[in-house]
Amino acid sequence: MALDLAIIGGTGLYQFPGLEKVERKTVETPFGATSAPVVCGELAGRSVAFLARHGEGHSVPPHRVNYRANIWALHSLGARRVIGVNAVGGIRDDMGPRVVAVPDQLIDYTHGRFTSFCDADGAEVRHIDFSEPYTASLREAVLAAAGRAGVAVVDGGCYGATQGPRLETRAEIARLRRDGCDLVGMTGMPEAALARELELDYACIALIANWAAGCGDEAEISLEEIFANLREATAVVPVLIAALLA
Ligand code: HPA
Repeated sequence: MALDLAIIGGTGLYQFPGLEKVERKTVETPFGATSAPVVCGELAGRSVAFLARHGEGHSVPPHRVNYRANIWALHSLGARRVIGVNAVGGIRDDMGPRVVAVPDQLIDYTHGRFTSFCDADGAEVRHIDFSEPYTASLREAVLAAAGRAGVAVVDGGCYGATQGPRLETRAEIARLRRDGCDLVGMTGMPEAALARELELDYACIALIANWAAGCGDEAEISLEEIFANLREATAVVPVLIAALLA
């Protein structure tokens, strides 16, 4: 069965509003359990799968997400296009709280995660091209959908993937800025690379929850602020996805 789209929801997006005729699927994978059952259903008459990256009750922290199981499960259900929705902190001046961005590059600072499907005994060793970590055609489709839906999004930006679950120090963010990162989040990798290994189209919708450490006026980052901003930014996601599927 082919799916028109799979969506991986991040912090603040645990169910997909408007998904109809839903069937919850528990998918067995060679890599263990997914973060949550995959919720398959219809959105505007198109077949869509939704998976809550942190579990439906946000019980799985970024460094313990089973990224391989999640991507494998979506692929095995017939997904060929995957949108990752990720809460992030903003570094660049135009990436403040509640802004929505569609990054076009990333730098991976994570460690100790299973980053490839190629490390099982006997598995073929593949060196995928990752010059462009997000699929250009899917990024373009998201940007075009945003235009049609009248949703403001920033086109491009470099996503710095950090290990979490703690937020970063000011010095770490200063380093990320020097490296060229515009956004920082904890879940962008290895998800994007695993999607590429399975030849899935993959793009990221980054929801900016807060200024990254040292980028705003606040001495500290408050979780209340993160969740309040995310609620607002998350509201555009169903609008964007509906336009993408139209
Ligand atoms: N850093 C890393 N990940 C995040 C942040 C942040 O400031 N905000 C939301 N996710």
